[in-house]
Amino acid sequence: MHISSVYNTDRKDRSREYPLFLSKEEVKNVRRFHKTFRGYERTPLSRLNNLAKEIGVKEIFVKDESFRFNLNAFKVLGGSLAIGKLLCKKLGININETTFEYLKSDGVREKIGQMTFVTATDGNHGRGVAWAAKELNQKAIVYLPKGSAIRRVEAIRELGAEAIVTDLNYDDAVRLVMKVAQENGYEIIQDTAWNGYEEIPKWVMQGYTTMADEAIEQLNEIGIERPTHVFLQAGVGSMAGAVLGYYANVFKDNLPITTILEPDNAACIFKSAIIGDGKPYGVSGDLETIMVGLACGEPNPIGWNILRDFSDMYISSSDHAAARGMRILANPIGNDEKIVSGESGAIGIGILSLIMQDENYKEIKEKLGLNENSTVLVFSTEGDTDPVNYRKVLWDGKYELSL
Ligand SMILES: Cc1ncc(COP(=O)(O)O)c(C=O)c1O
Repeated sequence: MHISSVYNTDRKDRSREYPLFLSKEEVKNVRRFHKTFRGYERTPLSRLNNLAKEIGVKEIFVKDESFRFNLNAFKVLGGSLAIGKLLCKKLGININETTFEYLKSDGVREKIGQMTFVTATDGNHGRGVAWAAKELNQKAIVYLPKGSAIRRVEAIRELGAEAIVTDLNYDDAVRLVMKVAQENGYEIIQDTAWNGYEEIPKWVMQGYTTMADEAIEQLNEIGIERPTHVFLQAGVGSMAGAVLGYYANVFKDNLPITTILEPDNAACIFKSAIIGDGKPYGVSGDLETIMVGLACGEPNPIGWNILRDFSDMYISSSDHAAARGMRILANPIGNDEKIVSGESGAIGIGILSLIMQDENYKEIKEKLGLNENSTVLVFSTEGDTDPVNYRKVLWDGKYELSL
């Protein structure tokens, strides 16, 4: 078991410029568009009173994204908005004045013609792109990194998309997609940015804000204005950047204390924070971790800038922390709700519980000011997207730890 932390001290390179593409107004429009999807519903925000008491905080809220459009992860929010905005751009219409149902109509299909969306993904993003392409009668091709779990590949194929498992890691699969798209005239719908490819990843990030906005709305409805602490896991940092960038716009100087979480073998945001010159840095190699959604070696520069400017701490940990989170959420105390949380989803609860319960991490707890007055928000970003590993962790106690 291993956890490392770096505190984001008040460095001079923090610009604290609120990202305009994640403003309240933009997010309102994103949410409106998502509400036009058939079957749109807010995902549950579970209040775990007994767990909070057990580990010594006031409140714990878990946003359970396993319920998102029956797709078992939050990611479809990004791909669907990006594809929606792309179609609107081609049609010359304003996305704020249309609906997903209209974009699905035969008339639109005739005007737009056949399009092929291509992307590289650990699985969840690809599933979202495949779903949106199917709804819109378009084609999707999804490249997955080596060793991708069978269930994740099948879930993409079941939506009618082509799924190709490469022998590359995530970042190299993204480079392959750039080449394939250029050679064949496909549209890249990628969940990370690079020089010259920024518009679509910004749309993807905007899409994720629906999850962040729902969570605050759900808290407000029970009389809680804001959490005091937020934990956000990062692969390339698009999700964390989107949520934090939006919260920065909402809460301004009263921003919750935010911690960014990554697996040891793919801790590119953590590495960038340690180097500390304000620029994003990558890590390479196989990026081996059970948190495959977070197995990305190169930060999204747009997401990184937001994390650099607004987050408080970066944590890198071994897989044990994620496994602990999965077990805790699957075995609730008393009448707390049970949450099926996959490897990349459960890391928030895993880390929070360890910080609060293991003396070795007392310093982190103190630095973050976590105590009986804290209201903590975490995002369980996926359910059991790899059911085989889920059972190995839960039934067979894989990645056990001794406290
Ligand atoms: C379940 C899950 N959680 C979190 C993330 C991290 O998102 P990002 O790569 O934007 O940092 C991913 C990315 O694929 C994911 O699948």
